[in-house]
Amino acid sequence: MVLIDGFIELNRGGCKSYLLGCEKTRKAILIDPVRERVALYLAVLAYHGYRAEFVIDTHTHADHPSGIWDLQALTGAKLVTHRLTPAPGIDIHVCDRQRLACGSLEMTVLHTPGHTPDSISILVGERIFTGDTLLIHGTGRTDLAGGDPAIQYDSIVSQLFTLPDSTKVFPGHDYRGQTHSTIGHEKVRNPRLAGRSRQAYIDLMNDLNLPLPERIQEVLQANQTAIDDGSLKFPSLSQLNTVRQISPIELDSLLKSSPPPLLVDVSQPEEFAELGHIQGSLLIPLRQLTVRVGELESVREREVVVVSRTGVRSTTAAAILSAMGFEHVSNLEGGMLEWNEQGLPTEP
Ligand SMILES: [Fe+2]
Repeated sequence: MVLIDGFIELNRGGCKSYLLGCEKTRKAILIDPVRERVALYLAVLAYHGYRAEFVIDTHTHADHPSGIWDLQALTGAKLVTHRLTPAPGIDIHVCDRQRLACGSLEMTVLHTPGHTPDSISILVGERIFTGDTLLIHGTGRTDLAGGDPAIQYDSIVSQLFTLPDSTKVFPGHDYRGQTHSTIGHEKVRNPRLAGRSRQAYIDLMNDLNLPLPERIQEVLQANQTAIDDGSLKFPSLSQLNTVRQISPIELDSLLKSSPPPLLVDVSQPEEFAELGHIQGSLLIPLRQLTVRVGELESVREREVVVVSRTGVRSTTAAAILSAMGFEHVSNLEGGMLEWNEQGLPTEP
């Protein structure tokens, strides 16, 4: 493991994390850190005299606990993810084509959904970090939470494949000991994409029948909620799948009925203020839900709608409430981001 020109892949395993440093300012970017190796990342940074400026997750990971929150707490680095990332505690929510500078390093974010809705690729100079969107001779699976093969095909073909052929591709995973590829190589050699139509790609991805990653629900929900200390017992996949989802428009009209549903917003207080909230919402951050559930005792029989930033954490909360015997619980699909997108009213 050698750091050359301020660049190194840190894990030497199937799961890839990267460090990029500005040699002049000694500011560094960490991409896709895994939680179990945070101590090693801190040692590498210290050894080479770098300070973590940005810590980036290319998407919400389902296969390993993310190290971003530990690194934020231990170094003060700013956390960067796409605006659709469900987890709280992110310092910079980025959008497609957004640029960020880290000393002399210029980053351009490309929104490349398909593996997950919040998948981004990061272009730094002649390198593109593609997360689990484009892999070497492969692509990220599209059958997990929020995945979509059609959207992924468009992200790869219309976004990544328009970069210069010489652009070096550094993926989020590789299980065959390969370190990188190029856009030009993947265009003609990637067996999932080369010579395949969009529909053929969709059919191929829908037919993969891959086994679920080990401990997916524990890992995924910990990464979706930033609760990884065992303080919350996460619901199972089948419990999550039974949560009734309602759209912002449906909720808006339900709120005009009598009695209106009780709104439980499980956001963090800073999100509640930043995104606004729906009038009458009771704020109970997800982490406090099980200890404060007594506050909802009198409404056990009533219709309850749970709300969060993107609708993911609130699906977890709705499944927890249902398991506790609340009979009429729904989730606001798309959360406050979608509510705001529809121009529906909020309170500061
Ligand atoms: Fe992934």
